[in-house]
Amino acid sequence: MSEPKKLFIKTYGCQMNVYDSERMAEALGGSGYVETQTPDEADMILLNTCHIREKAAEKVYSELGRFKGLKADKPDLKIGVAGCVAQAEGEEIMRRSGLVDMVVGPQSYHRLPAMEARARGGDKVLDTDFPEDDKFAALKTRPKARRGPTAFLTVQEGCDKFCAFCVVPYTRGVEVSRPVAQVLDEARDLVARGVREITLLGQNVNAYHGTGPDGADWSLARLIWALDGIEGLERIRFTTSHPNDMSDDLIAAHGECAKLMPYLHLPVQSGSDRILKRMNRSHTAESYLRLIERIRAARPDILISGDFIVGFPEETERDFEDTMALIREVGYGQAFSFKYSTRPGTPAAERAQVDPDVASERLSRLQALITEQQRSIQDAMVGRELGVLFEKPGRMPGQMVGKSDYLHAVHVADCPAEAGELRRVRITESGPNSLAGVLV
Ligand code: 5AD
Ligand code: SF4
Repeated sequence: MSEPKKLFIKTYGCQMNVYDSERMAEALGGSGYVETQTPDEADMILLNTCHIREKAAEKVYSELGRFKGLKADKPDLKIGVAGCVAQAEGEEIMRRSGLVDMVVGPQSYHRLPAMEARARGGDKVLDTDFPEDDKFAALKTRPKARRGPTAFLTVQEGCDKFCAFCVVPYTRGVEVSRPVAQVLDEARDLVARGVREITLLGQNVNAYHGTGPDGADWSLARLIWALDGIEGLERIRFTTSHPNDMSDDLIAAHGECAKLMPYLHLPVQSGSDRILKRMNRSHTAESYLRLIERIRAARPDILISGDFIVGFPEETERDFEDTMALIREVGYGQAFSFKYSTRPGTPAAERAQVDPDVASERLSRLQALITEQQRSIQDAMVGRELGVLFEKPGRMPGQMVGKSDYLHAVHVADCPAEAGELRRVRITESGPNSLAGVLV
């Protein structure tokens, strides 16, 4: 038998890219590749790129530059660029960097083995199509390989919302949902391999409308209830959601489905109606706040997480203050906040930009407020008994680390629980980035 070839994948950006990287590794497993964590010993290097914020392409070129020496030492080394930068700037990358053998967009990953074979033959291969054939059906998971206790499962891709700042509708294309049966099969397979918690992924996951076994369109809530019936699956999460797709059945599921965790990532981006309109968000600050109220009525302890953009074109101090007021009203347990960055080709790119120093100063004020909220919500866990799914040993001998229902990291010293066990833990301490507790 020949030595397996080695594959090094570097993943940037969102969780969907993490999921895609796993699928790519599995697809190339069929071509005789095993994964390595060291680029130096790789026969193939894949960069799975992100285009959402600044300097995405530059980052790719500088990363490629670092592999120049490797390729000189090992002419057989094949280098590929995947992900959203590949989709957006694939041809340019091929032109500019002599190092790249393959460019593959997110909708073409199932074609990687064929592309790899052509690259091995000396061809330069580019595939950034949005093909008709079903990528997921072709990307069969490798059966029986053991998995850790948590996994991502992409159920929906693409976006039809066209927020004025965002490249996703251009790089990932229109909204597409995977059929229910396919999702359930993959979930059962994951559970059989040791997974206890599944996070359903989609750029607009709550707009999920996959075809069910009955031929009807199923909502995300209906899919969650079907997953709830899988024995051995203990926890369900989903991300990322749009406020306008928070349907009644999904809100109700948060109150009624015990496996659905009390955590919701619901980006609002801004608290100013003027800016929300300019962002093409089609909701207002008020409608978002009322929505949060309804969600909390269904599940009072739910932890709300969000995304914010500061310094969006034309944002005034007044607009920014509206965002701060909304944050104060919601109380976020977690948030991701970004300075607006121009994405060529998106509507907002053409507009009057906010002074970058002003934007930086607003960002730091916003982050200070969020940090304070996060911290007080985390501190309030002390004294409570929470479910913790243990994932791995901690740094201290005998210690185990897991995640609480609310997604906080929890450390337990002298812990007899093993990875994959869901146990009750009494929280005793709140540190800067995690909680500590004892088994109940
Ligand atoms: N500039 C800054 N942040 C952005 N995001 C998306 N596009 C941009 C942009 N052009 C942020 C949004 C989104 C998150 C994934 O990234 O907050 O919810
Ligand atoms: Fe980045 Fe969005 Fe692409 Fe994910 S989908 S890799 S966040 S641009």
